[in-house]
Amino acid sequence: MTTGTVDAAERYEAAFDEAVAADERIEPRDWMPDAYRSTLIRQMAQHAHSEIIGMQPEANWITRAPSLRRKAILMAKVQDEAGHGLYLYSATETLGASRDELLDKLHSGRQRYSSIFNYPTLTWADVGAIGWLVDGAAITNQVPLCRCSYGPYARAMVRICKEESFHQRQGYELLLALSRGTPAQHAMAQDAVDRWWWPSLMMFGPPDEESAHSARSMLWKIKRHSNDELRQRFVDICVPQAEALGLTLPDPELRWNEQRGHHDFGPIDWSEFQRVLKGEGPCNEQRLGQRRRAHEEGAWVREAAAAHAARHRTPRGGSRPEQREERTA
Ligand SMILES: [Fe+2]
Ligand SMILES: [Fe+2]
Repeated sequence: MTTGTVDAAERYEAAFDEAVAADERIEPRDWMPDAYRSTLIRQMAQHAHSEIIGMQPEANWITRAPSLRRKAILMAKVQDEAGHGLYLYSATETLGASRDELLDKLHSGRQRYSSIFNYPTLTWADVGAIGWLVDGAAITNQVPLCRCSYGPYARAMVRICKEESFHQRQGYELLLALSRGTPAQHAMAQDAVDRWWWPSLMMFGPPDEESAHSARSMLWKIKRHSNDELRQRFVDICVPQAEALGLTLPDPELRWNEQRGHHDFGPIDWSEFQRVLKGEGPCNEQRLGQRRRAHEEGAWVREAAAAHAARHRTPRGGSRPEQREERTA
């Protein structure tokens, strides 16, 4: 490498550091360090995969929703999640990763999705608990991502967060109806909250001292708050909401700590988290199997869409074939 290129590389790096420090957005055509790019691809791909795998546990209840209103709401929510996946795959493509490659990595287990979706949805109340707790945890994680240093990711998150808050509210409202219903309905809501509470807390990732990527992501302003900070924020939000719902959070150590100005909570069973992460959760195989099947069975749709796009592609500087025909007719 000549001195000239070294100087240029240093200048690019300095410009990148300055932009991040000044809270400016990094855009796809800007120079960025390779590790920044690969960190974003890993995080955004995992996020996109989580959105589309997350459709499965709830779609499981569409045909059994207890009323037309509930069915319409649930269908809209599951469709939203598909949309979130699409925005995020598109945003990841701006970093030079192809969608085929990303899906291939998901299907072969080389890229992950959120472990929370490896738990089963056993009753209708689980739809409520997922909305309230899982979408609630997702919002807590994602609101700060609206200020992420990478422009396309930050912009995708703005719209996603608006839809996520609708998801969270529908879950809360569903649980409220069950909690105020018959004793059996109340018990069903409580059981769902008992099963989803701890996995929701694990959604924030490992404790700060064990989080491999956290410090650098904070430096690059991809991440704005640590895992433990966000987890604490989520617990503090949920406690009064659980009281309003008339439901109990399954943690005997949960109590307000006047000194800290936060709720203390009991220890998290990280061995369970690691087991699910390794693929030993209750539904890992089922989720990935269904995703692969959906991908294979959808091959004809992708082929048809590509053929359609090719037929209607505007030649460079020219008009579309049918436009030319109209003109000559
Ligand atoms: Fe989503
Ligand atoms: Fe959602």
